Amino acid sequence: MRKAFIAGNWKMHKTVSEAVDLVTALKGALEGVEDCDVAVCPPFVALDPVRGSLEGSTIGLGAQNMHWEEEGAFTGAVSPTMLQGMCDYVILGHSERRTIFGETDEWINKKLHAALSHGLLPIVCVGENLEQNEAGETVAVCGGQVRAAFEDVAADRAVEVTIAYEPIWAIGTGVPAHGEDANDIIRRAIRDVLADLYDEDVAEAIRVQYGGSVKPHNVVEFLSQKEIDGALVGGASLKADDFSEIVKKGLAAHLGE
Ligand code: PGA
Repeated sequence: MRKAFIAGNWKMHKTVSEAVDLVTALKGALEGVEDCDVAVCPPFVALDPVRGSLEGSTIGLGAQNMHWEEEGAFTGAVSPTMLQGMCDYVILGHSERRTIFGETDEWINKKLHAALSHGLLPIVCVGENLEQNEAGETVAVCGGQVRAAFEDVAADRAVEVTIAYEPIWAIGTGVPAHGEDANDIIRRAIRDVLADLYDEDVAEAIRVQYGGSVKPHNVVEFLSQKEIDGALVGGASLKADDFSEIVKKGLAAHLGE
């Protein structure tokens, strides 16, 4: 059984002191929670202070993005070398990066290679927009994003990656996908594609999260699905009570309790 993995994507929220307060509260609220990987992904400037606050805790730390080059004239960018040793995970290809900042599939593939070669565990986001969804293109769009992201990634490295299926129309809208639909898309657009790129073992080993309006009241619907191993949580990860409730309820649902 794949271990549950629930991550909080704080996006462009929380000053450094607010970030430290949030993670301190979370640390307390999640004490004793085992059998589940939990991570928080604050803005870059809060990574180091949050890392300090997380000392002695099992909560992991992730960045929300990075460049693929180690250094250079890339104003405003942060490199894998800078994140190495600073955090465990890095979110790559979030739909906000793709749509607002123009990130392409090719960049996301370069970032994936760079993360893996620098010991960072990537969370690669894929997802269709409303128009694509309504046109019945979801499997083709998400499957294409998976193929592009994993280009030339060896099987033994691919298994270190987590994929987050995040339908764009469900992000920040309060309108999540249905658990069964998300499960079906993950089977057809993610695991079947991975089985084709690699083999069944790799397809079954890779963890897949659902993201898009995950809240304490609906997390069970997602984490009780066979293909869904966790959640990437935006808005509800900004409150310690909500996020810890999501982790506890989600873990129980994943374990079939
Ligand atoms: P949301 O965001 O939970 O606020 O919908 C999810 C995400 O963008 O990762």
